[in-house]
Amino acid sequence: MGVVRNLRQVSADDAGVDIAFRADVHAGLSQDQKAIPARWFYDATGSALFEDITALPEYYPTRSETDLLTRHAADIAAAIGPARAVVELGSGSSTKTPLLLDAIDPAAYVPVDISGDFLRDSAEALAERFPRLAIYPVEADFTQRVELPREICALPKLGFFPGSTIGNMVARSAIDLLRNWRAALGDGSLMLIGIDRIKDIGILETAYDDPAGVTAAFNLNLLERINRELGGDIAVENFSHRAVWDDVHARIEMHLVAACEMDFTIDGHAYHMAKGETIHSENSHKYGPRDANLLLRAGGWTPIATWDDAEPAFALILAKATEFRSAP
Ligand code: TRP
Repeated sequence: MGVVRNLRQVSADDAGVDIAFRADVHAGLSQDQKAIPARWFYDATGSALFEDITALPEYYPTRSETDLLTRHAADIAAAIGPARAVVELGSGSSTKTPLLLDAIDPAAYVPVDISGDFLRDSAEALAERFPRLAIYPVEADFTQRVELPREICALPKLGFFPGSTIGNMVARSAIDLLRNWRAALGDGSLMLIGIDRIKDIGILETAYDDPAGVTAAFNLNLLERINRELGGDIAVENFSHRAVWDDVHARIEMHLVAACEMDFTIDGHAYHMAKGETIHSENSHKYGPRDANLLLRAGGWTPIATWDDAEPAFALILAKATEFRSAP
């Protein structure tokens, strides 16, 4: 069957610049606390650096989640059942996907990712590995409304949202996303989601600030990307990477810290930063067992099974689309 076709839902201007990227950078750098949405990390370089992060000894989430998927594959498959269309949000290199697809005998696979080149390469690799599976890649930002391929409309769906990517959203956006996908996947659908747990702060902070500096390179690549794609002249060498735990929000925050006072321009717009001022580039929220369940329920998903016995702790939660009941 192989890769059938590719839906592209990302728009660029005449010069090939992503319109949403430019708008987000200018809006974000005009705020008091400068901030750029984390989705813009993932150009080709950023996607490759992120793959390197997942192989770091300090970055446990990928290993913990893979361990859960491997050890509990039979249980997970029994809870999900066969013949679903698997829709993966932010598929990236799709490295965990074969573990799931091998276990559950799906009817179709729909990887959704914002990084088009990466998406095509990994869809082709999966097509080789699963020659009889229908694969419909969709190049899109999964935080926006995504049109699903019409070939899967009649199939029961399983959303697959691994990697604790839900944790990269603030609670309010996470709930919006869960509600949107509850509507898009429809009644009777299931969601298998990976959510990282709150744990020792030292373990958390090192996972996001490794001694080899790969996470720093990943963070700094955002500035390089602005220079490359938006004609910026940011002196990237004057920035450093910082990752800190914020206990009130229960999250790791990543920042790009200005080492000195500086001026730069992007697309002809002038920006100024004071020494020590930061650009907030990522959040990674962590959830205890009840927090995670509350988040899912608020988003229209009822948890029905949890696998969370990995070390360091991480949770895979299976939830079903909640039927709406107004009372009591
Ligand atoms: N969602 C993952 C996490 O929060 C992956 C991730 C997103 C990440 N941005 C990152 C990992 C930045 C390291 C650094 O862990």
